[in-house]
Amino acid sequence: MTTSKRRLRKAVFPVAGLGTRFLPATKAMPKEMLTVVDRPVIQHVVDEARAAGIEHFIFITGRNKGVIEDHFDSMFELEQTLMQRGKKNELELLARDLPEAGQTSFTRQQAPLGLGHAVWCARELVGNEPFALLLPDMLHSATKPCLAEMIEAYEAHGGNHIAVSPVPQDQTHLYGIAGVEDAKAKVSRITKMVEKPPRGTAPSNLHISGRYILQPEIFELLGKQTTGAGGEIQLTDSMITLGERPGQTFHAVRFDGQIYDCGSKIGFLMANIAYALARDDLAPALKSELRKLLG
Ligand code: G1P
Repeated sequence: MTTSKRRLRKAVFPVAGLGTRFLPATKAMPKEMLTVVDRPVIQHVVDEARAAGIEHFIFITGRNKGVIEDHFDSMFELEQTLMQRGKKNELELLARDLPEAGQTSFTRQQAPLGLGHAVWCARELVGNEPFALLLPDMLHSATKPCLAEMIEAYEAHGGNHIAVSPVPQDQTHLYGIAGVEDAKAKVSRITKMVEKPPRGTAPSNLHISGRYILQPEIFELLGKQTTGAGGEIQLTDSMITLGERPGQTFHAVRFDGQIYDCGSKIGFLMANIAYALARDDLAPALKSELRKLLG
C-alpha cells in the first residue's frame, strides 16, 4: 500500500473570501473576525486545529485581511496596560491563545478564483507533506473536535479524509456531496464526489462539511487551474482526480456533532446562541432574556 500516513503537522485556513453576504458588517472587517460570543470565528476554528495537535497554521488571506494577522500576534501595548492594571485573567487568556513565534504563516490569494485556487496558494508553505484544511465559515461543535476524530481515522487508514454530515435532500445542491460505501459507518470509503450537484442528482445526502486531510499530490492537480461549478477552480474536482490515482484513497468521516454555517446569517446567529448557552457564565441570564424576548 502506497497510501501515506505521515504525521499531520500543518493546517490551512482559507480566509480570503469577501464576505459579501454580511455587508455592511464586512466592508472594512474580515468576515472571519466576526465574533461568536467573545472569540472571532477564525479563532474557534484555529482552536479546533490546535486541540487536534496541529503545530503550524497557514492562512490564505487577501486584501483587507491584515487584522487576522494582528489577531494571532502578541499586542505589546495592550499587554503592558493589562499588566499595569493587574488584569491577570485577561493576560492569561491572551497568552493561552497566542501561537508560538514561527507557528503561523500568511500568504495572499491575489484573485478570488475559487476554493481550489486558495488551497493551491498554500503549496510552498505546506511542501511535500499531508495537511489539514479547515474552512472557517463552518463551525463544528462537539465534545471531541472534528479534526481530532479525522486524525484518528487518518492514523488508521492513511490517505485522504473528508468530514461529512447529512443535510436535507433539498439542500444538496448547495454543497460538495460524497457517496460512500457504508452510509451508517463512522468511517467509510468514498465512492463518488460531486461539487454542487443539480437538484435531484446528488449521490447521497452527505455534504462535505469543510474539514479535510489531504495528501500533497493535490497541489499538482490544483495547479492545472481547471474551472468547474460556478466557473471557479473547485477543490472537489481535483479531489475526484486524485482519488482515481493508484495508491490514493479517500475516506469520509461522519461528523455527528452540530455544524453552524457562519457564512449564512441564520447559521451565524444560531452559533452565537448555541455557544453562549454552552457557557456557565452566560447561559442562565441568556435563557431568561430569550424567554422574555420570545414572550
Ligand atoms: C465549499 C466546498 C464544498 C463544501 C462547502 C462547505 O463550497 O467547495 O464542497 O461542501 O465549502 O461549506 P463553498 O461554500 O465555498 O461554495
